[in-house]
Amino acid sequence: MTLSRRDFIQVAAAMGASLAWTGKARASSSSWREARGFYPQGVASGDPDAHSVILWTRRPFDDGERQLLTVEVAEDEGFRRVVAQARAPVSAESDWTTRVLVGGLKPRHVYWYRFTDADGNGSRIGRTITAPLDDDARPINFAFVSCQDVNEGTLNAFRRMIYEDERARPEDQLGFIHHLGDFIYEIVEYPEEQPTRYDRTIYEVARLPDGGVVGKFHFPLNVDGYRAVYKGYLADPDLQDARARWPFVAMWDNHEFSWQGWQSIQQAGGKSRPGQSIKVAANQAWWEYLPSRCKKVSGPSLDTFDPPAVTNVAIEKWDENGLGDEPNNLAAIHSLIGYRSYRYGKHLDLIITDQHSYRSPDPFSDDSLNKLGDWAAYNGWFPEDLQQVLDAGRAFNGGNPPAELAFGEGRIPNPQKDAPPQTILGATQKAWFKDQLRKSKATWKIWGNSEGALDERIDPQNLPAGMLPKPWPAGFVNASAGDYGSAWTERSEIYDLVRDAKITGFAIVSGDRHSFWAGYATSHLPPGKFEPVGVSFVGGSLSSAGAMEALEHRPRDKFPLRQLYLVDRPGSAKPDWTYNMTVKHGVRSSLEYAKSFDLERARALSNRELAPHLEFIDAGGHGYAKVRLDGEQMRTEFVCIPRPITRSASPDGGPLRYRVVHSAKLWDAGEPPKLTQQVLEGDVGLSI
Ligand SMILES: [Fe+2]
Repeated sequence: MTLSRRDFIQVAAAMGASLAWTGKARASSSSWREARGFYPQGVASGDPDAHSVILWTRRPFDDGERQLLTVEVAEDEGFRRVVAQARAPVSAESDWTTRVLVGGLKPRHVYWYRFTDADGNGSRIGRTITAPLDDDARPINFAFVSCQDVNEGTLNAFRRMIYEDERARPEDQLGFIHHLGDFIYEIVEYPEEQPTRYDRTIYEVARLPDGGVVGKFHFPLNVDGYRAVYKGYLADPDLQDARARWPFVAMWDNHEFSWQGWQSIQQAGGKSRPGQSIKVAANQAWWEYLPSRCKKVSGPSLDTFDPPAVTNVAIEKWDENGLGDEPNNLAAIHSLIGYRSYRYGKHLDLIITDQHSYRSPDPFSDDSLNKLGDWAAYNGWFPEDLQQVLDAGRAFNGGNPPAELAFGEGRIPNPQKDAPPQTILGATQKAWFKDQLRKSKATWKIWGNSEGALDERIDPQNLPAGMLPKPWPAGFVNASAGDYGSAWTERSEIYDLVRDAKITGFAIVSGDRHSFWAGYATSHLPPGKFEPVGVSFVGGSLSSAGAMEALEHRPRDKFPLRQLYLVDRPGSAKPDWTYNMTVKHGVRSSLEYAKSFDLERARALSNRELAPHLEFIDAGGHGYAKVRLDGEQMRTEFVCIPRPITRSASPDGGPLRYRVVHSAKLWDAGEPPKLTQQVLEGDVGLSI
C-alpha cells in the first residue's frame, strides 16, 4: 500500500517534528564534514517498510537542553542526489538521541544518510534499505542474530557478516538484520573485580554507581544505568559498522531488562524485587537506542519517551492468565509494546513476539519439588512427564490434573493443580499472534521468537546400571531452560492452529540459547505423536559464552557423567562436545563415542525416539544465521565462528568453524516439512 504525502504528513505530524519527505534529487548543500567523535554511538536505521524507515543517531551536547541536527538522505554515497533533508532534534531528555521517520522512499531501494550539527560536524554515513512491495516476488535475504555480550567477547561475527555482504551479488545481499535480543547484558562486570571468566577477558563496558550488585555483576536500577550500558555496547566498532550498513528489526529478550526478570519483576541471581520503575527505565532506554516502530504509551512522538509514573509495589494478585493484576505492573509492561509484524515482499511475514513482559509465573520452581526426589543423585535431571503436568497446571489431562506427583518412592501434592497453564506470550499477545498467523498471506510466516522452541531431551533410562548413584526410575528428561522447549501447552495451542487452519510455510527463528539448532516444530515427541507443522531454528550467540564453554571449565572431580558432555579425544587440544550427540542421538551413542571415537558406531546406537525433531545441534557455536526465502524454499545458513575472545585483526572477522545450510522446500498443508542439510565448509563436529 502506498502512503500518499498527505497521509504520511498526518501520520508523521502525530510523531512530532522529526519527519522527512522525499522530493526532487539535488546535490547536498549542507556543511557536513565527517567528525565521528561528535557521534560516539554511530548511526542506525530501523523497521523499514516499502516507503519509509526510521533513522537514528546520538549527538551529545555539553550545554542546553535541546539542539537541532540536519539529516540528509541520498540515493548515492557521495550525496549528489539528496532526496530528503529534515531537522532532527536531540535533547537531554532523550539522552541526546534522535529518531527521524523518512517517507516517500522507493521500495527495495538502498539509501545513504548522514547527520550534521549547526557547526558542520557530521556523523559517519549510514546505509539503509527499504522493504520490497507486498507483491514483489523476488527472493529475499535477511540475517537473524542474538546475544552480543561485549563485556565478555567481541563481535567478529558482525565483521564476517559485513565482509561477506560487501562481496555478495546485489540480489544476495541482506535486506535487514533481525535482532532477537540480548542486545545488551544488563549485568555488567568490572575488569578490575573480575579480569576473566571462563575463557573470556572482561572488557570495560560501563559503570553503574547507583545500580544493584549480585556477586560480581552490577545491574542498572534506573534509566541512566541502562543508558550507560547501551552507550558502552555501542562503542563496539563492529556493532557500529553493522548498524550503519543495514536496518535492524529488533526485539528484546530478557537481558534488556533483567536476567531472570519477568513482567515488571526484577531478578538477578535469584533474589527478586518489585521493579515497575526499572521495567519502564529499561523500555525507555531500549526505545531511545534502538529505532523501531514499537508503540509507546505516551503516543507516537519520536522525540521523547515520556515514561509513565509508576511505583514499585509487590504484585499480590494474578489474573486467570497469570498476569500480575497490579496497576503499576500493567502500566510498566504496557509502556512500550514490542510485539509487531513486518511484511517484507511477497514471501515474508515476520511476526515478532515478546517473551518476557507478559509471561506467567515459572511453574517449575516450587520449593516442594525438592522433596520429591534426591535430584543430586540423578544429575539434577527432572522427568519430562512430570514437567508436562506442571506446565499444563489445571488444564492437564482435559482439566483433570493429578492431585499428587510421584517419582520413584517420592510423593508430593501437585503444586500446579489449580494454576493456569503456563503462558509465555500472555493472553492478549497470544490472541494477536494467532490472528496474525491466520491472516498472513505471505509465502513464509516466520515467528521471530527470541526463545528457542526445540526440545532439549536426554534419555537417562538408557544409561548402563551403576552410572547414576540410583537407577533412573522414569522416562525422558527435558533440559530446555524455561523456553518453548518446555511450554507444551502453549506451543500445542499455536501448532494446532497452524495444522487446523492449514497454514503452510510456518517457521521459527530464535536466539537466547547461545547455540545453533535446526529442526521441526512439533507439539509432542515420542512417546507422544511426532507431528511437525513447521521448521524451527535457533541461532548461535554473536559472542556470549555458551554451555560448552562453561562445561569445559567445570572441574573434573565435580563432573560425574562427563562423557555425556565432553570427551578428550587423543591428540586433540580441545575436548569433543559429546553433549551434541547426547541430545541428538542419546546417551548410548555418546558412551560409544567416548570409548571408540568411531562416529559411525556411535550413530548406529542412535535412540530414534529421542529427537526425531532435530537435524542439527551445536551447543557451543557462535555466529549468525542467514535466511533466503523465495516462492519454493527457505534456506537457512548457519555461519559459525570460533569462540570470539579477541577482536579479529583481519577484515573478514577471522576464520570460520563451519558453514552449514538447512533447506526446506515449501510443503503443502498437511504434509510434514523436510529439511536437507549441506555442510559447505569446515567441521561440524558431533552436531549431526
Ligand atoms: Fe543471551
